[in-house]
Amino acid sequence: MARINNLFTPRRALTTLGISVLAIAASASADVAGDHGPGSTAPVRPFRLDQVQLGAGLLQEKRDRIKEFVQAYDERRFLILFNNQAGRPNPDGIEVPGGWEDGGLLSGHWTGHYLTALSQAYADQGEEVFKTKLDWMVKEIAACQDAITARMHQSNNTEQTNTTASAPDWIPTHPGYVGALPEDTVLRLGPPRWAIYGSDLSKNTWASWYTQHKIIRGLLDAYYNTNNTQALDVVVKMANWAYLALTIGDKRQPGYTGNLTRSDLNYMWDLYIAGEFGGANEVFPEIYQLTGDERHLYTAKAFDNRESLFGAAVQDNDILVVPADKIPGRRRAQRLHANTHVPQFIGYMSVFEHGGGQEYFDAAKNFYGWVHPHRHFAHGGTGGNYPGSNDNPELFQNRDNIVNAIADNGAETCTTYNLLKLARYLFLHEHNATYMDNYERGLFNMIAGSRADESSTESPMLTYFQPLTPGSSREYENTGTCCGGTGMESHTKYQETVYLRSADGSTLWVNLYVPSTLTWADKGFVVKQETRFPRSDTVKFTVSGDGPLDINLRVPAWIRKGFQVKVNNAVSDATATPGSYLTISRTWAAGDVVEVTMPFTLRIERALDRPDTQALLWGPVLLQTIGTPAGGQTYHQLSLYRHLKLDGDYARAAAVKTSPAGDSIFSFAGSNGNLTARPYYIGDTQAASAYFRRVEPSVVFGSVDTKIANRKRNDGLPRYDVPVANITSPGNDGPTFLDIVWDSAPFKTHSAFVGTVQNVVKAFVADGVYTQAEADRIVKSAKDAKSQLEA
Ligand SMILES: *[C@@H]1O[C@H](CO)[C@@H](O)[C@H](O)[C@H]1NC(C)=O
Ligand SMILES: *[C@@H]1O[C@H](CO)[C@@H](O)[C@H](O)[C@H]1NC(C)=O
Ligand SMILES: *[C@@H]1O[C@H](CO)[C@@H](O)[C@H](O)[C@H]1NC(C)=O
Ligand SMILES: *[C@@H]1O[C@H](CO)[C@@H](O)[C@H](O)[C@H]1NC(C)=O
Ligand SMILES: *[C@@H]1O[C@H](CO)[C@@H](O)[C@H](O)[C@H]1NC(C)=O
Ligand SMILES: *[C@@H]1O[C@H](CO)[C@@H](O)[C@H](O)[C@H]1NC(C)=O
Ligand SMILES: *[C@@H]1O[C@H](CO)[C@@H](O)[C@H](O)[C@H]1NC(C)=O
Ligand SMILES: [Zn+2]
Repeated sequence: MARINNLFTPRRALTTLGISVLAIAASASADVAGDHGPGSTAPVRPFRLDQVQLGAGLLQEKRDRIKEFVQAYDERRFLILFNNQAGRPNPDGIEVPGGWEDGGLLSGHWTGHYLTALSQAYADQGEEVFKTKLDWMVKEIAACQDAITARMHQSNNTEQTNTTASAPDWIPTHPGYVGALPEDTVLRLGPPRWAIYGSDLSKNTWASWYTQHKIIRGLLDAYYNTNNTQALDVVVKMANWAYLALTIGDKRQPGYTGNLTRSDLNYMWDLYIAGEFGGANEVFPEIYQLTGDERHLYTAKAFDNRESLFGAAVQDNDILVVPADKIPGRRRAQRLHANTHVPQFIGYMSVFEHGGGQEYFDAAKNFYGWVHPHRHFAHGGTGGNYPGSNDNPELFQNRDNIVNAIADNGAETCTTYNLLKLARYLFLHEHNATYMDNYERGLFNMIAGSRADESSTESPMLTYFQPLTPGSSREYENTGTCCGGTGMESHTKYQETVYLRSADGSTLWVNLYVPSTLTWADKGFVVKQETRFPRSDTVKFTVSGDGPLDINLRVPAWIRKGFQVKVNNAVSDATATPGSYLTISRTWAAGDVVEVTMPFTLRIERALDRPDTQALLWGPVLLQTIGTPAGGQTYHQLSLYRHLKLDGDYARAAAVKTSPAGDSIFSFAGSNGNLTARPYYIGDTQAASAYFRRVEPSVVFGSVDTKIANRKRNDGLPRYDVPVANITSPGNDGPTFLDIVWDSAPFKTHSAFVGTVQNVVKAFVADGVYTQAEADRIVKSAKDAKSQLEA
């Protein structure tokens, strides 16, 4: 039985008074009152998952496919390896899940993900089947933990040792360990053995703390989402074990010289793959909050990656990629592995939330800024590959290298899962709408697109990499992998960031437009959101409840025109600034209705390092062009400027129709016939491209062609921070003349347009790009095109 604090009492009071801890009742379920988990001490906080129900729509469709898989899966398969370590029998005729959950050195991680998925799947609709599976698994894991620890007590008396065939022959070094592998696979990472990455079960290690994190996270989620107190009991014992493992360490090993030092820990975490600990430092501050036991906060800080990254992040010194002769630390790699490091910063946010200090926040915020926008693709992911790299697309790219990192196997899905977690965490403290713009992009594109749009009870049908090479296809499966595990989580928690609330309950934040119902019982409010977003651009909220409440509505950064809010049919005169929140302060009465219209526009986004390499977006949705580029081209090519009118709306360059599912499908006239562009979230295996090449050879205004080259200006684009072998750094590149003109759209009048043309061309003449004679012809043509541009 875990000995834990009364959850209703602030921990500080308990520690100062030295009150002895209270054991929680052994009932399988008790209320989880108060705020727990990420954001529990933040100025803006999440709702519990069971307070928000998803309504019908895109995300619910994606969720229900994964729920079908999670429900059908035989949960006993997740316990086989645990039972083997505990010396407990397994039923006949069942097999381990497979993939990396096969008895190899990452085993156990999928059990953790599955626990999280079960608790999340249960939270929304309360279907007993998920809770039944979950409760059974927690009970079995608790029994495994007890059986493993019990061997310590039998070890001095061989007569008591259970020597049945299935009983493993290892005795734990510290009490409380539970996992799918022997405790030794964790301890050997540290001194005196310093095990390295490999597949030899007897001497290598592979992200053993990552696996421990997933199991603890799964159990904590079982507690938060379903009030399963036995899960908390197991977690606290695991946390007590973790503390001993990271302080006393491998004490039975010959050559042991004493407790682990800071230097030892730094050395462990810098080891590529083996030292990957996921978000292990995320869970221990949460456990500290639950227990009041300072040792758990200490454990979280033991994971600080102090030798080669933490300090640089606090100082905002981007060292994700360094020159070969400037590698910091004793054994970090030249180029860091994205998904090893993003979760570490999630953990620093957790340490910060529980008293770790400002530097933890600063490190996380600065690190996030290195990824967004400097290593960020249009679909929301990071990573990539390029000719001449070491061919590992899981690594961070050189700062500002986007286009040269667009390659097959582009971005790892689990890294995006973690980037969303980090953005959300930062938002809870800073409320900067940019974090939510990024969150929305990752969620509606890469995360939604990570699940195939077909049902399966055999496979999770999730992506690992989401390729960026033009004309490449997604592949779905991923049983037992990192991305298959985080995918089971992502698709069962779509409601988690739709709404947030201020700590004092005075403000409701509406971050995402998703059909859903929030039941905020403490405040007496129910908010129903009806929309087909992102398949439509209108949203209706019905508020039930009485009394004052500020509602902050997110105004997405991609809004170009026409964002409108109506409260009970009266148009609000509040100014909506894209990339911010609009506050509706009101004393509400039951039945009040808020309607929001946020017209989608078709827009382009230029890659940071090559302005002619662009992505097409429709509101929040990235559009992929379908098919393999023809004519030996690497990219699909599009010329769009001749279609634009004064409003600058790219929708004029395409015909749009709605698919049976309600998706907007665009058709562009391309140089090789029509090109189809459709939402990224569609989950099939069609060859598709997230980026295209813009081809605008001459200065045109509608069909008025000046026959003058549409030249680029040297914009001194950022050079890659570390030179990329055999690839010319940008720097002399820049946008074209027409790019700069149209960046000022929409234009109220034709003369405003001509004014812009005059200003831009003047600057190009001053820079020596155009002659005065060319400039005069360009301006004359812009004037002549009046009727075309106004049409
Ligand atoms: C868990 O406890 C909370 C807080 O008391 C309660 O609101 C919630 O309904 C409970 N959830 C379940 C699944 O029992
Ligand atoms: C010994 O292990 C077997 C198989 O795991 C189990 O059935 C039995 O109850 C155990 N006996 C004792 C004394 O623990
Ligand atoms: C087993 O014996 C060793 C050596 O005498 C002792 O240090 C240890 O505490 C004992 N363990 C248990 C669980 O009794
Ligand atoms: C080693 O760590 C343990 C905690 O796990 C602590 O009680 C003990 O004092 C430490 N020993 C030294 C020499 O620091
Ligand atoms: C760069 O190009 C040269 C010449 O083609 C080639 O020998 C070398 O291997 C390339 N370097 C990398 C890192 O690809
Ligand atoms: C929000 O974050 C963005 C991106 O880092 C930054 O440009 C902007 O200034 C921030 N806004 C505020 C209000 O801090
Ligand atoms: C081809 O694209 C053009 C321009 O968007 C559109 O008007 C036309 O209908 C498309 N043709 C087909 C067959 O889709
Ligand atoms: Zn992954």
